[in-house]
Amino acid sequence: MKLREAAAALNLKRPMKARKNGNANKLASEDRAFHDWYRFVLSFPPHLVRDYVKDFGLTKNSVVLDPFCGTGTTLIESKLLGLKTVGLEANSFAHFAASTKLDWDIDSDQLLAKSRDIAYTALELLRLQGLDDQHSLGKIPKKLRLRTLDADTEKLILSNSISPLPLHKTLVLLDCMKEMEKEKYYHHALLALGNALVYKISNLHFGPEVGVRNIKSDVSVVGNWLAEVEKIASDIKSISGKKYPQSQIYLGDSREIANFIAPHSIDAVITSPPYPNEKDYTRTTRLESVLLGFVNSKEELRALKKTLVRSNTRGVYKADDDDKWIDAYPEIQKIAGEIEERRIALEKNSGFERLYARVTKLYFGGMARHLADLRQLLRPGAQLAYVVGDQASYLRVMIRTGELLAKIAVALGYEHVRTDLFRTRLATATKEQLREEVVILRWNKKE
Ligand SMILES: C[S@@+](CC[C@H](N)C(=O)[O-])C[C@H]1O[C@@H](n2cnc3c(N)ncnc32)[C@H](O)[C@@H]1O
Repeated sequence: MKLREAAAALNLKRPMKARKNGNANKLASEDRAFHDWYRFVLSFPPHLVRDYVKDFGLTKNSVVLDPFCGTGTTLIESKLLGLKTVGLEANSFAHFAASTKLDWDIDSDQLLAKSRDIAYTALELLRLQGLDDQHSLGKIPKKLRLRTLDADTEKLILSNSISPLPLHKTLVLLDCMKEMEKEKYYHHALLALGNALVYKISNLHFGPEVGVRNIKSDVSVVGNWLAEVEKIASDIKSISGKKYPQSQIYLGDSREIANFIAPHSIDAVITSPPYPNEKDYTRTTRLESVLLGFVNSKEELRALKKTLVRSNTRGVYKADDDDKWIDAYPEIQKIAGEIEERRIALEKNSGFERLYARVTKLYFGGMARHLADLRQLLRPGAQLAYVVGDQASYLRVMIRTGELLAKIAVALGYEHVRTDLFRTRLATATKEQLREEVVILRWNKKE
């Protein structure tokens, strides 16, 4: 009977805290459904997608592509509007998140019922170990040996990104979740744990870079997970009986996009690629990628990094040669030259600083490769929106990302229709307002 009572107690409504989190991410409350199952801090907002779907005059027959789909904002919003969608993403956890966020074809009652069963089991197991997940005092019973990660796995995550007790409880819960491993809704339950891990269970802080702050000795793991499962189940229930087009999302490198998507099949691209800003997307997603089994070794991490457009110096490799794609762009050569000159003048000699000029060239080269490969997928008249930000991350040398991408696109045969200002952001280093823009392109050719 006790377990039944625990079940009732666990039938949690969404806590207020989660809503606040949503606000911090600037996700309007009416846009919460599906999007906030798991999203990157500072992902572009769904209304931007709606604006360009309207501006491009897309209809239900249109196919929208996001070649850097991340956690799926473009794809979800387009699908909600009844459009067909295709996505590509190179980071395995973001790919999993987007694929799961777009899978609305599960039985939400079953997801909830099975998750509650699993929650009872996990709570009971923890209780037998002397742990109360809901009213924790943060004390570890003397005889309990906490479960830990093996030394190599531990090295993959940011140190202190999760405290020992929450980690132990997460590993216990994950074991219990194996019982639903074969069910279609297992992915949803796993993503719920991913989101709970990042925003509630871990010590991670996004400012917007990922770091560790306010170390919590303990926090409810099972309860927070179940609250996330409830959110997912309730969103799916809210659309029951409605029909939406299917989405296809590939795990892969957008610089080789023609390997994944059929020629002449795309009417519109709405996307936000990486910017040359030192952001490491594999670091942002590291804890959930490692704990939930998407990155299992240093080698796997390196292989994943190699599939990303080079946008930070931690992901640059000796054999990289995307820079040869921008040999003919004096503007980019000039920026790289300025960065290198400033580095030498300031005597910045660390291994990473020495790579600033190179990564800038590799970034634009990678984007050029992507835009070149993309051409064969586009239908004549296809319209494209690339959301990119100006950057000054490399020794304060200004990189006008949108302007340079537009130039590269024009040289590759695209029409540069216009550039819209989306928003400005204050650069902490230079105190200048950096423009975040939407570069609008059109593909007019037939081949
Ligand atoms: C600015 S984020 C996109 C965020 C997205 N709009 C969302 O809703 O979450 C850029 C994404 O591009 C991905 N990416 C970087 N290089 C890539 C590549 N070569 N191919 C595919 N995806 C890549 C990163 O992993 C990251 O998820």
